[in-house]
Amino acid sequence: SPVDVDPSLVEKGGFQHHMLREVYEAPYALLRTLSSVQEKYLQLAARLVLGAEDVYIIANGTSLHAGMVASYYLSELVGISPVVTSAAEFPLYYVENVSPGSLVVAISQSGETGDVLSSLYEAKLRGATILGVTNYIGSRLARLSNVYLPIAAGPELAVPATKTFTSTLLLLYLVALRASREAGKTDASTYAQKVSSAREAALRLAEALPRVDEEAKQAVKLVRGCRGGYVVSRGITYPLALEAALKLKEAAYFHAEGVEAGEFKHGPFVLVEEGFFTGFIVPVEKLSAEATYPLIQSAAEAGASVVAVGFEGDGRLAEIKSERLAVISTPPAERHLAPIAYAIPLQLLAYRLGVELGRPIDAPRYLTKAVTR
Ligand code: AGP
Repeated sequence: SPVDVDPSLVEKGGFQHHMLREVYEAPYALLRTLSSVQEKYLQLAARLVLGAEDVYIIANGTSLHAGMVASYYLSELVGISPVVTSAAEFPLYYVENVSPGSLVVAISQSGETGDVLSSLYEAKLRGATILGVTNYIGSRLARLSNVYLPIAAGPELAVPATKTFTSTLLLLYLVALRASREAGKTDASTYAQKVSSAREAALRLAEALPRVDEEAKQAVKLVRGCRGGYVVSRGITYPLALEAALKLKEAAYFHAEGVEAGEFKHGPFVLVEEGFFTGFIVPVEKLSAEATYPLIQSAAEAGASVVAVGFEGDGRLAEIKSERLAVISTPPAERHLAPIAYAIPLQLLAYRLGVELGRPIDAPRYLTKAVTR
């Protein structure tokens, strides 16, 4: 009866943890990001990017991983190669080169991260322009920015960031796409078509989520006894490997390291054996994907517990038969939306492992939602 309802479940919308609720909200957060971003501010942001002498992207943790993906967006869509760095490193090793022609793109879901704010003070002293990307419009980051864009993912309560990550990726993609349009590299109809693909990708993710979650639960049966492991990928999905490793640490207290696929055979492979987890995110580039399937096979043959995250209908992945391999598939998405499609299964894997291992998922020890100093 309604009187028996656990109030903490009501607060979490019927989900066991805020993190799980927030992952399930991610597709709707993507739609909100799309509908909240105002064209005139997107245009302003795009012009700042195009007019800058140099572009720095600064952030920490998950937001830094979003910034790393954004460097692929900017490089591929507008031919700009930004410097991407942790906000903790920026004032020490990068700010010296900042000038009034520099644009600093500061990403922080909370908008209150101490390293980001202190970097901004330093950058402003040198006359740089600040483009802020934050989920909190009243935050100090928003107030310190010359222009800021709201992530608009809705409040996020779990310490492990999930839906703000996917919405940040989308927002940064829109900035690069808009810059590409302003630069005459993408025409108006292609731009509109790409925006509507993003909307469709969000809807496909919403539909697929329960199945993806079920596959993550199955995968956890392979991983739960492992002492730690790797998440391997390359190219635009390499930052996702770093992000998955971070989520596994935060949500499951499980040691994992992000490894670039091309580096796998230059050392990391030595640890791959029974009791070791090896996750693969199948890269979106055909040639890189082709080079990854044999690695998946080798890791399974070496006795590791292997989880491969790929697109639905990946026949090459389905051909690899091994009881040491679990596959989590996500709806296919075009290259620049792939990091968003891949984020959700990886977040669910970390979440389900955290549940299995009985971890305090929403509030991991020592961590706070915003690291203000
Ligand atoms: C993400 O899961 C972490 N809790 C953490 O790395 C976080 O992303 C980082 O502290 C930056 O936070 P921000 O986006 O609020 O600046």
